Amino acid sequence: MTNQLSEKILKLKKEKNAIILAHLYQIPEIQEIADYVGDSYYLSQVARDAKEDLIIFCGVKFMAESAKVLSPEKTVILPAPNAGCPMADMAEVEDVEEMIKKYPDAFKVCYINSSYEVKALCDASVTSSSALNIIKNIPNKQILFLPDQNLGGYISEFFPEKEFILWRGFCPTHHRITAEDIIKAKEEHPNVKVLSHPECSKEVRDLSDYIGSTSGIINYATECEDKEFIIATEEGVLHQLKKKNPDKKFYFPEVMVCPNMKKTSLQDVYDALDGKKEEVILDEEIRKKALTSLENMHKLGN
Ligand code: 13P
Ligand code: SF4
Repeated sequence: MTNQLSEKILKLKKEKNAIILAHLYQIPEIQEIADYVGDSYYLSQVARDAKEDLIIFCGVKFMAESAKVLSPEKTVILPAPNAGCPMADMAEVEDVEEMIKKYPDAFKVCYINSSYEVKALCDASVTSSSALNIIKNIPNKQILFLPDQNLGGYISEFFPEKEFILWRGFCPTHHRITAEDIIKAKEEHPNVKVLSHPECSKEVRDLSDYIGSTSGIINYATECEDKEFIIATEEGVLHQLKKKNPDKKFYFPEVMVCPNMKKTSLQDVYDALDGKKEEVILDEEIRKKALTSLENMHKLGN
């Protein structure tokens, strides 16, 4: 059944001159039919450079919005339109405007996990894989970082000379994992390296051997000669981890599922290709401002 539907999707995709992008937290069936699977930085680059007329973005709202900001001439569809990101929702436009007023000299950085309206208020966007490079290129002493206090806190540790003002947002999925979970996993699997996402708390990060984006974690586990790893990020990464490393073992110390990333089904993707889903529509004025923020991410991140 799934195979039949996958075949129908691939056929319709060709007819519609579409490209399917999938984040690494998507269900395996979606990752398998996607043209490109990756972290949010990589997918934003693919969306920007896509030649196809239609982009089907299997992920959450801020990802599809960013694709539309970068490729306004294309039709962009989020197959599960109610797939949001609770962390992005923690930074509302009015509150961000208030905060910005308080720090007129600060360079305003927003994690890509934010609405396009919030991006429009910021000088540059960042992702977990590009944030270090980007902040390195910013001369301002004061950095206003939103909405993730954990990624912001992690990055700030590399720049003691700068003053970071952190928004208090967090990812509910990554926040679940505690230092105790990691300590227990290390006791159960002695000498096994811990690979974690920077959205995890400082206590978890401090117990980790590697901290990086979703694709950073997959690349690290693939290149490292070790045969076992403790993974502290959403379980969707397991599909590529296993595919690339069939002989290695991966342990998740906590159930880590992002319910929004799991909202997209193969049927949703088929329906999106079949014209049964709404396309992403953005306000043009705001889009242009958000574009500057995302373009700065690509410029400063390279
Ligand atoms: P990555 O940029 O590492 O793919 O992270 C996106 C995300 O939403 C993590 O929760
Ligand atoms: Fe948002 Fe967390 Fe889900 Fe990533 S894992 S999309 S940050 S809620």
